[in-house]
Amino acid sequence: MGERGAAVAAALVTASGPLPARGAAAPAAAVPDAGLAWDDEGMIVYAGPSSGLPWPARVGSPETGCLVPGFVDCHVHLPFFGWRSDEFEARLRGVSYRELHGEEGGIFRSSRMLAEAPDERVLAFCQRLVAEMAASGTTALELKTGYGLSVEAELRQARLARALAERAPQTCTVTLLACHAVPKGLSRAEWVAAACEELIPAAAAEELADAVDVYVEDIAFSLEDLERVAEAAAAARLPLRVHADQLGPSAAAEAAVRLGARSADHLNHLSRDGVEALGAAEATVAGLLPASTFFLRAPAPPVAALREAGAAIAIATDFNPGTSPVCSMPEAIAMACTVYGLEPLVALTASTANPAWVLGLGDRLGTLEPGKRADFLLLEEAGFAQVPYRPGHDPVVATFVGGRHVAGRVLH
Ligand code: NIG
Ligand code: FE
Repeated sequence: MGERGAAVAAALVTASGPLPARGAAAPAAAVPDAGLAWDDEGMIVYAGPSSGLPWPARVGSPETGCLVPGFVDCHVHLPFFGWRSDEFEARLRGVSYRELHGEEGGIFRSSRMLAEAPDERVLAFCQRLVAEMAASGTTALELKTGYGLSVEAELRQARLARALAERAPQTCTVTLLACHAVPKGLSRAEWVAAACEELIPAAAAEELADAVDVYVEDIAFSLEDLERVAEAAAAARLPLRVHADQLGPSAAAEAAVRLGARSADHLNHLSRDGVEALGAAEATVAGLLPASTFFLRAPAPPVAALREAGAAIAIATDFNPGTSPVCSMPEAIAMACTVYGLEPLVALTASTANPAWVLGLGDRLGTLEPGKRADFLLLEEAGFAQVPYRPGHDPVVATFVGGRHVAGRVLH
């Protein structure tokens, strides 16, 4: 049990209402001269004008700063081990991501580096990274497998993810990216069968996964593979996620909607039908990953059309050593605003409440409302626009998870 507490700031900005927030319904709202209070279990008991606080605040100042929900990063490829900056340099010389993959770089290379590292070294490497994420305001995140590429190695990566979750200051969920690359020596059909018949049931039996993901791409898995994995995930009672239309069009977003996936992510080559499907989707969020768009110099997804069609959107980092070595949500938000044209308050909802819903945490966190967990940030100045306004500058003064100060400059 912790200590009850309260914080004040010149403003508090949060999303509210039914999730996932869609299209024009998405903007968050601001309260001036604000206060936030939480109980000794780290649950919010009050969010509103500071005059209504049930006890005095020991965090923040009424003159300055802004209280916002902690960022929820719903697309993260941790745990991984080691970097691939030489591949970055090769891409700058004109070698494509597809070519690196074909030459057993890319995902295969990260798979080898992970396999060769002892558990403790992997965990130490990843702990530093989740600490960096906490400092830039991430209070909940996804951890994906996908660098195992065998049943045993995928299960090991999922166990490492659960171990990392124990050590991380944030809430972490684990997604089994069961189909990420076709392992060497196996056909696609053989790996899909192993993933569906062995890996997913074994991970579910050991409670190692909270969701299942598939990379649909010409260098990876097909729509038929996705259907099979969706069936196996449903049999294991695990929600589905989909890497869709990243390197080329594949109609994966439409399939994700049809299969009731919680998100279709990337969407760089999303078709008009895909826009319409996500616009009409009851329960599939469009996952925007602007850092990997930037890093691969890929075309931007049709974000304005998605919003016009009424899609719910989330912003995430896609943190991984190949296509997005960016783990800062403020950076991803800055790119989403400047490159994709999101208004800051829309970006706030898309980086807090909606991704919490994607991870199945929407009833526990992602907004600053009584009954939710006190996962919040104190930002330097009043208002949320400061986050996308100064890319490269970290506006997070302090990060709190369940009312506990986990990173930043404010001390109790
Ligand atoms: O989301 N698209 C596939 N997976 C990752 C990249 C993985 C890697 O290159 O290591 C992504 O971009
Ligand atoms: Fe990804």
